[in-house]
Amino acid sequence: MEFFDRDSEIAYMKRILEQYPRRIIFVYGPINSGKTALIVELLNRLDKEKFLPFYFNLREFQLSKYEDFVDLFFMVKNGFKGLLESLKLHSTPSVTFAGIVTIKIPISKEDFSLIRSSNRPEDAFSYIKAYFVHLVSHGLRPILVLDELQMMRGVKYNGLLLDQLFNFFVSLTKETHLAHVVAVTSDCLFIEHVYGVARLEGRVEYIKIDDLDKDRARELYENLELPKGRFEFVWGYLGGKINDYLALEMEYRAGMEIDVALERMLRDEMNRLLYLLMQFSYKEVRYVDEDGSEYRIEEERVKETLKFFVEKEEGDVIDFDFATLRYLIKENILFFDPVEGIVRPQSRLVHRAIKDLKLDGGQI
Ligand SMILES: Nc1ncnc2c1ncn2[C@@H]1O[C@H](COP(=O)(O)OP(=O)(O)OP(=O)(O)O)[C@@H](O)[C@H]1O
Ligand SMILES: [Mg+2]
Repeated sequence: MEFFDRDSEIAYMKRILEQYPRRIIFVYGPINSGKTALIVELLNRLDKEKFLPFYFNLREFQLSKYEDFVDLFFMVKNGFKGLLESLKLHSTPSVTFAGIVTIKIPISKEDFSLIRSSNRPEDAFSYIKAYFVHLVSHGLRPILVLDELQMMRGVKYNGLLLDQLFNFFVSLTKETHLAHVVAVTSDCLFIEHVYGVARLEGRVEYIKIDDLDKDRARELYENLELPKGRFEFVWGYLGGKINDYLALEMEYRAGMEIDVALERMLRDEMNRLLYLLMQFSYKEVRYVDEDGSEYRIEEERVKETLKFFVEKEEGDVIDFDFATLRYLIKENILFFDPVEGIVRPQSRLVHRAIKDLKLDGGQI
């Protein structure tokens, strides 16, 4: 389908991007809420005379060490003599993703080898900075977008690379106001971790891209090829998750009744939960936190935590057992909002599956 609505979110983000870069922007929200689709749409709608976005979807890259970052950010241009030629060459596409042209930072072969072999992140950062200064002096505002930020988990460089990278981003935003840096992820445990290791207090801005509210979900429903007059029924299963409406439409167009399709989707979620609980019967379940500390997870506590959501839509993070909650967040059962300090099921479908499991007896 065509890109749906999100006008208010796009307008809001545009207003932020039109200002001087001041803070690293974290775009977060539950899984499959449409963060990537929104960012790609936003970048495509920006004035090309004023902005130069560098969009990296980290799912497409293997990132663990310094060289990986150099390979990620830079693109060797044959015949590229140095920064001064960059404006002529910057528009050469290197990768395309979801219709957006991703461009990398152009560099000559010689400079690339020097930077890659130096193994000093400062060298790469200085080069990028100089390039950005150059763009800004020509009236172009660079925007560095790192989508699926959680793929940086596991980055090691004397344990410091992640820290250094984010401090470079602080320098690009808060200190020099050269470039916008936008980090996108649904993994809020990782955001919290990065925030801690790179000491980002007062240096970040959070933008939540949530599932649709009921009015917008109704509008989406009416835009899709789905039977008339059934929105309320479907909302009861899918809430505002765009991705789930698209999945339903696909089944419907393939000839399946929506009642059957919805029950199957719900069944899938229930099976995912049952599988999770079943593991406890044959192995020790452990949760490893971002800082490496390990916790043993107990079935009863998992059930207790899930039970809370039978009656409630959301809960306060501090009211739950630390490790159990984080385990369920990690497993994408629960969504953690680091700004509001609340947790809730990742989707209406998951919420419904939790209720239908009948944790008080019956099924399990
Ligand atoms: N506004 C929209 N209009 C049309 N399709 C959309 C919209 N938002 C999301 N989608 C579709 O829904 C699906 C999920 O969206 P997307 O991948 O952008 O979610 P996400 O929040 O980035 O997910 P993740 O948490 O895995 O990163 C995609 O197939 C996408 O094309
Ligand atoms: Mg995404």
